[in-house]
Amino acid sequence: MITAKAPGKLYIAGEYAIVEPGSPAIIVAIDQFVTVTIKKSKETGSISSKQYQENSLSWYRQGTKIIFDNRDNPFHYILSAIHLTELYAQSIGKQMVNYHVNIDSDLDSTDGKKYGLGSSAAVTVATVRAVSQFYNLKLTDNALFKLSAMAHLDVQGNGSLGDIAASVYGGWIAYYSFDRDWLKIMRKGTPLTELLTMDWPMLSVQRLPQPKDLELLIGWTGSPASTSIFVDKMALFKAKQKKTYSEFLEDSKKCVTAMINGFKLNNSIIIQQEITNNRMILQQLADASQVIIETESLTSLCNLSESQHAAAKTSGAGGGDCGIALATSETNRTELFKDWAQNDIQPLNIKVTL
Ligand code: PMV
Ligand code: MG
Repeated sequence: MITAKAPGKLYIAGEYAIVEPGSPAIIVAIDQFVTVTIKKSKETGSISSKQYQENSLSWYRQGTKIIFDNRDNPFHYILSAIHLTELYAQSIGKQMVNYHVNIDSDLDSTDGKKYGLGSSAAVTVATVRAVSQFYNLKLTDNALFKLSAMAHLDVQGNGSLGDIAASVYGGWIAYYSFDRDWLKIMRKGTPLTELLTMDWPMLSVQRLPQPKDLELLIGWTGSPASTSIFVDKMALFKAKQKKTYSEFLEDSKKCVTAMINGFKLNNSIIIQQEITNNRMILQQLADASQVIIETESLTSLCNLSESQHAAAKTSGAGGGDCGIALATSETNRTELFKDWAQNDIQPLNIKVTL
């Protein structure tokens, strides 16, 4: 029996801009995991999971047609991860066998609560990791990232893959997304074995030191949000308002680059300033695009944190899910969590996994 796991993630800074190759983001991996077990079987194989059961499908209408949207369905990431890892295994001469796959997730509760902690990325990485161990493929971290990124792209198609990077490399990372148009073209004529070893344009992942004087606090607003739908909306805004969008990209890049330096210098003042700055930059983007990133609940979360000396912002696509606060020694955590609770914001007992 093979067991493999991969962590969920949280965005610290650089959201939306990270979708453009060459822009940086800061992301952390968290101590909540997706675990995949694989057992050899004689005849048919199976995929089972307590949390993920394909008992409902979402669709939308395009004219008179019904279009199924698989992008928020974890099962499709599992299938895609198995498919690509097996393709790679075949390309290096492995014999295919049958097996049962079981998936267990800390990131999705059985009562259906969705925290937005990157379960689609974690499930993809954990599945690629498990299947590759099952076939004894000995993938490096870079190869694991690339296979998982392609498997994820084949389902969601519009993400930055920063969540995959956080899940593969762990800890605090600075991530620069790769050129997905290049990859799309290359995939048509390049063997997988070559794709996994070649450099991908613009891709960069750097580990950052954990800030010494800051503690990451996470608040859950209780309402789920679909990242892929928010990214679609922002792509529409980009197409309509190129200039405002490129100003946003520049502002975000400046801010996140300064923040990355703050991490390298272990300067908590710079990090906090840039968190507040990134919150403003995202607010401007939200105003210009009419996409509600900072919901009322996320605004309360941020303002309450700020009055407790903690820099705060939305995390990820926003529109619900979680917000983050970087607390200092001056932050009274008990008071802050009480304030959050009065506003229906639940502190999550989650730590960064290194
Ligand atoms: O909401 P999350 O945690 O899935 O983060 C989304 C971050 C975006 O930059 C908006 C999209 C992406 O793919 O990076
Ligand atoms: Mg989200």
